[in-house]
Amino acid sequence: MSAWSTTAALKPLRGTVHVAGDKSITHRALILGALANGETTVSGYCLGEDCLNTLRVVRALGVQVEEVGDTNLKVFGKGLWGLTEPSTVLDCGNSGTGLRLLAGVLAGQDFFSVLTGDTSLRNRPMGRVANPLRTMGASIAGRMAGEYAPLAISGQRLTGVDYHSPVASAQVKSAMLLAGLLAEGTTCVTEPMQSRDHTERMLQYLGVDVEVEGTAVSVTGRGAFTGKPLSVPGDLSAAAFFLVAASIVPDSEVFLPNIGMNPARTGILEVLTNMGADIQIMNLQVVSGEPVADLVVKSASLHGVEIGAELVPKTIDEFPILCVAAAAATGETRITDAQELRVKETDRIRAMAIELSKIGIPIEENQGGLNITGGLSFRGAECRSYGDHRVAMSLAVAGLRADSAIHIDDTDCIETSFPGFKDKLLDLLTNSP
Ligand code: S3P
Repeated sequence: MSAWSTTAALKPLRGTVHVAGDKSITHRALILGALANGETTVSGYCLGEDCLNTLRVVRALGVQVEEVGDTNLKVFGKGLWGLTEPSTVLDCGNSGTGLRLLAGVLAGQDFFSVLTGDTSLRNRPMGRVANPLRTMGASIAGRMAGEYAPLAISGQRLTGVDYHSPVASAQVKSAMLLAGLLAEGTTCVTEPMQSRDHTERMLQYLGVDVEVEGTAVSVTGRGAFTGKPLSVPGDLSAAAFFLVAASIVPDSEVFLPNIGMNPARTGILEVLTNMGADIQIMNLQVVSGEPVADLVVKSASLHGVEIGAELVPKTIDEFPILCVAAAAATGETRITDAQELRVKETDRIRAMAIELSKIGIPIEENQGGLNITGGLSFRGAECRSYGDHRVAMSLAVAGLRADSAIHIDDTDCIETSFPGFKDKLLDLLTNSP
């Protein structure tokens, strides 16, 4: 388990950074590529462990996937009914997206499979996918009646349902839509608020008829589709660490080319802009059905803001790094209605409250969020990542403002989503005059 210390940059961050490929889109490209007929070339895919685990699972289901150069994959799809029974358990590692989406696919196959993951994933709620999938006819067993993985799935003939999800979750919605591809009839998922719509966009891009009406999405099952080249943009959730780092380290200017701008993900840009950040969006275009742009961020003095319910789904993965932005901003930032953060890779409300307190930030935790009083100096501390990639990267960015070293116990977890993060951050510091 490797550790990392970061301390006051004393230098601006300057230069260009190519961030990891989008993790959400990579999972979907692998899964839909496997279910398509024929080849899907995936360029710019995320090399993070989460996606590599989905890649291994797809291979274990009998699908050939070739690595082409460093950044491209070729998936030889087998069609909706071409997957084969895996001879061993399918390990999704740390990835909630991998496990939940695959549960939807496997529920409708004609074989038995078991999905599991690491300790963190085995403690995350799975009833949110197992229960609605069961209403389609799925047979899913698991610990605590399927609330926790491992999940044992006996594939069944599924029937489309009309499901109203109590939570805005792209993982729940996508599990249902993927099961819906295999089901008889139409599957409709309605969410309380829109979550990221990568699954819907990729299906449409691949020629599948998906109907969207407000927050309701429907798909009709059993229609074959054909693979197509897919280009994966840089992950806005990975870019977020540099957006905040450059904002809070004086005199910085960083260029981030080719970043995904899915409107259900751009809460970080709205929040940082409301805080006074200087972020320019350039060359907005649509690539493989997803909006993509180049970003330039320059340092700015930030001030506290309120982040409430309507911003939560589109900012969901960015709260750890937004806590660091809030700690560097003047005044108070109040985060509310964000209780979903308690069931991520770790309880991110608790983790950020404990770790930012250690570095001298006044921070109060409540059930659904945090109140952070910013503007004080950050002091060095012995911090924990809780094995959560986003907590680790957020604390590393906090270190760039600290008066002595912030030491983070476990930074191997950064590999989950962003191999190379450390070198890319250090490169921006060495580019400085
Ligand atoms: C994801 C959906 C979100 C997000 C996760 C990726 C996806 O989870 O937090 O990192 O790719 O569908 P929820 O659907 O549980 O909100």
